[in-house]
Amino acid sequence: MTHKRFDNKVAIITGAASGIGAATARLMASEGAKVVLADISGDAANALAAALGPDAMAVTCDVSKEAEVGALIKAAADTHGRIDILFNNAGIGSFANTVELPPDQWEQVIAVDLHSVYYACHHAIPHMPRGSAIVNTASISGLGGDYRFAAYNAAKGAVINYTKALAVDHARDGIRVNALCPGLVETPITAGLNQMPGLPEEWHKRIPLGRGAQPEEMANVVAFLASDAASYMTGSIIVADGGTTAHTGQPEVAQFAGMPEA
Ligand SMILES: NC(=O)c1ccc[n+]([C@@H]2O[C@H](COP(=O)([O-])OP(=O)(O)OC[C@H]3O[C@@H](n4cnc5c(N)ncnc54)[C@H](O)[C@@H]3O)[C@@H](O)[C@H]2O)c1
Repeated sequence: MTHKRFDNKVAIITGAASGIGAATARLMASEGAKVVLADISGDAANALAAALGPDAMAVTCDVSKEAEVGALIKAAADTHGRIDILFNNAGIGSFANTVELPPDQWEQVIAVDLHSVYYACHHAIPHMPRGSAIVNTASISGLGGDYRFAAYNAAKGAVINYTKALAVDHARDGIRVNALCPGLVETPITAGLNQMPGLPEEWHKRIPLGRGAQPEEMANVVAFLASDAASYMTGSIIVADGGTTAHTGQPEVAQFAGMPEA
């Protein structure tokens, strides 16, 4: 029998019902993991778990609520005895600048995107043996500012530095902690943006690879970071953005200087 990358590994995935989380759940399950799918959308998480088979279970969980995250981790640890992989991935955004943004929306974004990572790590780490891995979904929006995306920029920036703090604190426990910074990914969160006339073209112009990513392209990076192949990586902030942040943002001067198209 061939050895699979995640044979007998127990993986908790938050925001597992859709997009990057669902693609990662499918990939890890296909490579032998016992997956625990956590999502506020319990029906969708249950449907995915049923489709993945008996080694998948779903837990309805609002990751912004400490008690619900505690119950999620307990359910996973009670069922499987340990947790090898924690993928903190659930997230939301809110389009507003600081003046426009009401305090309850600020608090909600920070709670779902940032507090959730602390809640999950706080409860899960005591169940994680040496050789375990945590992956946090940050964003290129955690590396710089976007127009009217203040709470999300703040939350994802904090996830990046918190990833480094976790990595330092738990390296000697044999637990690696890394973060993924996606650029544009074609998931339900961004599907609405694609309906806005002119926006997809404008967006794709700013991505050197000229397109958004498929969620499976993010799942491949997450799976690598969670696997033993990344055994010397901890505290790494991995950008997978089609080249977006490699560009300085300066205009293509040659175009205006009448040089022929490259
Ligand atoms: N799609 C992108 O372009 C993009 C880019 C950078 C970062 N991200 C990040 O990737 C992560 C996954 O996003 P996605 O694009 O797959 O989006 P998605 O909307 O497809 O999936 C997000 C999932 O999180 C769940 N969720 C939302 N709030 C929750 C809560 N309070 N508790 C539990 N589950 C909750 C949703 O029900 C959904 O199933 C998020 O952290 C997002 O910020 C996405």
